[in-house]
Amino acid sequence: METQNPVLRSSVYRSASSIQTRNTRLPTRLPISAIGSPKWVSQCSLYANCAHTNRNLQCRNSVGEAEYKGVSYLEDDKPKSNITRKNLAVFVSGGGSNFRSVHTATTNGDVHGDVVVLVASKHDCGGAEYAREKGIPVIVFPTTKDSQEVLSAEDLVVALRSYEVDFILLAGYLKLIPAELIRSYTKAILNIHPSLLPAFGGKGYYGMKVHKAVIASGARYSGPTIHYVDEEYDTGRILAQRVVPVLAKDTPEELAARVLHEEHKLYVEVSAALCEERVIWREDGVPIIRSKENPLDYQ
Ligand code: GRF
Repeated sequence: METQNPVLRSSVYRSASSIQTRNTRLPTRLPISAIGSPKWVSQCSLYANCAHTNRNLQCRNSVGEAEYKGVSYLEDDKPKSNITRKNLAVFVSGGGSNFRSVHTATTNGDVHGDVVVLVASKHDCGGAEYAREKGIPVIVFPTTKDSQEVLSAEDLVVALRSYEVDFILLAGYLKLIPAELIRSYTKAILNIHPSLLPAFGGKGYYGMKVHKAVIASGARYSGPTIHYVDEEYDTGRILAQRVVPVLAKDTPEELAARVLHEEHKLYVEVSAALCEERVIWREDGVPIIRSKENPLDYQ
């Protein structure tokens, strides 16, 4: 039986997170065609936590299809069962309303993960205070001139590793992310931006400046974008977007509030997808999210 989307079928790659265990990371990008290769089979059989056992793999046909509830699925389409809870680090510089909504979603069961550490660029920002109230450890980075200990980018990576962080969520973090961190967390760092990228992004587009520029341009639609982080501002691969209207008499503050409302929902949905290993990479490098309700649909 054929899958319903032949284009995706030939182009889907296994996501990095779907093949990681708590203590061990396998190569980040394996083509679906590698499923049947002896190398892949032997790697997989090493890990008790891995959803795809050696015996299961031997039952796959040559394109890596499997049957589940009478429907033919690619390995990445098949709902996974024994998914480990993921550890999240959130980075903030301000009030942290996105951080709060993601944290709440982890505590009420909407996100299959936990915020295990908060990184704040300001010791006393709203996000850091909320984290302390909730008992979440706070790391201040970068450290300021008057702070007692100086934390390098390498130290930060070591600290995040010590919390066994799987994914990093930037939520209003205004400092540049060190290259060491980006290299250490390949395809595992996300940012939320308050416009429909690639429009109104890049250096200098932050906070209310974004919404002022949107209104001044005459654009009729705006909305948040969640994208992977690379070494430039706002240029990483887009993972999810949500559209909101720009109304004729909007002030930047009114537009910002409408966009922020959607940000909170979108970051929770994307965090849920990450933690449930529903993010997969198309062959052309675009990340897509498999729908929870219908595993053959992508967003
Ligand atoms: C959000 O608008 C987000 O898009 C941008 O910074 C803002 C953070 O707001 N990157 P908050 O601190 O989450 O309230």
